[in-house]
Amino acid sequence: MFTRINITGKVYWIGVNDRKKHLFENIWPLPDGVAYNSYIIVDEKTAIVDTIESFGAGTSYLHRIEQHLEGRPLNYLIINHMELDHSGEVKTIIEKYPDVKIIGNSTTFKILAAYFGITENLLNTSEIGDTLDLGYHKLKFVMTPWIHWPETMMTYDTTDNILFSADAFGSFGTLDGGIFDDEINFEAYYEDNMRRYFSNIVGKYCNMTQKALKKLDGVPVNYICSTHGPVWRKNPEKVIELYDKWSCYEAESGVAIMYASMYGNTEAMADYIARRIAEEGIKEIRIFDVSKTHISYLISEIWKYKAVILGSCAYNGEMYPLMEQFCREMEHMSVKNKLLGLFGSYSWSGGGVKNLLKFAENIGWEQVADAIEVYGIPTDEKYTQCDALAKAMAGKLK
Ligand code: FEO
Repeated sequence: MFTRINITGKVYWIGVNDRKKHLFENIWPLPDGVAYNSYIIVDEKTAIVDTIESFGAGTSYLHRIEQHLEGRPLNYLIINHMELDHSGEVKTIIEKYPDVKIIGNSTTFKILAAYFGITENLLNTSEIGDTLDLGYHKLKFVMTPWIHWPETMMTYDTTDNILFSADAFGSFGTLDGGIFDDEINFEAYYEDNMRRYFSNIVGKYCNMTQKALKKLDGVPVNYICSTHGPVWRKNPEKVIELYDKWSCYEAESGVAIMYASMYGNTEAMADYIARRIAEEGIKEIRIFDVSKTHISYLISEIWKYKAVILGSCAYNGEMYPLMEQFCREMEHMSVKNKLLGLFGSYSWSGGGVKNLLKFAENIGWEQVADAIEVYGIPTDEKYTQCDALAKAMAGKLK
């Protein structure tokens, strides 16, 4: 039976859940799937805000659009973000509604031409003036580049204070019945998914997220309609606060210990250091083997905890390859404001700790104690150095 999911006023959710895809952007695991949120405004003029990924749901998506429009034309297709998880059904919509005006900015249209060859019926936001008047709803367009691509913008309805925020305030995880923030258990299911989404997808652009949040400062927002994850209508301040906190690198007082170990000596040091930190009274400690835990989750833990302790055995004169990949990603993302500890094993020719130290210098995190390197099994002397690292780290966190 056809049912409408009304956000408020004349705005409806017409998104879909993707439980088929294993990897978002062919890299980030999706054990809980992902939702592609799309919205339709059935006003005196009609509009869709962002489409969905093309993954086989296009026919039912189009059918739902037809049901909402009840034979009326579609006047506008607003593209806040061109990444393919939101522009996947643009062509389908144009084929069905050839007169639809596509609203975007100059960069949107460059990408639209490059990916889809679409160059007609374009309406640049710069030509619209102050607002696009749909009747009841009146829309403004705000550039928010690099959240997550250069063309990204947000659409703001001044009538009901609805922010169509594109990827900002998004989350991994499908919408399993509950769509609105007051219909879900956010802490139990979405918060980790949201932090992982933020850190993996938007984390490189923290400064741009801060710029966008400053543009929102003082603007009344009653509804946040992101392209992924829940729609916020009860407590939109909560998700704004979370994105603000994460984009400032504000983290919990805890430690993520990440190690790479072939024969167990680096792992033994990780366990020892963690135990000593626990004895100092720190309760939030998590240990990860980089060979087992996907980098997507490691990145998310970096955003969760203030302190990071990295351990690597040497491998062919370098860091262990998976630790090297992780460190390179941290540098690429320019993650800031962390406390750092380092340890590792010389293996047969060194290179693990030496390159961790180079990483520390490049990234500029505060190293709380000397790095510890063992040759073979850790000696009592080396464990004493681990004590010093644990004590220094706990002292910084208390
Ligand atoms: Fe959800 Fe950047 O696309």
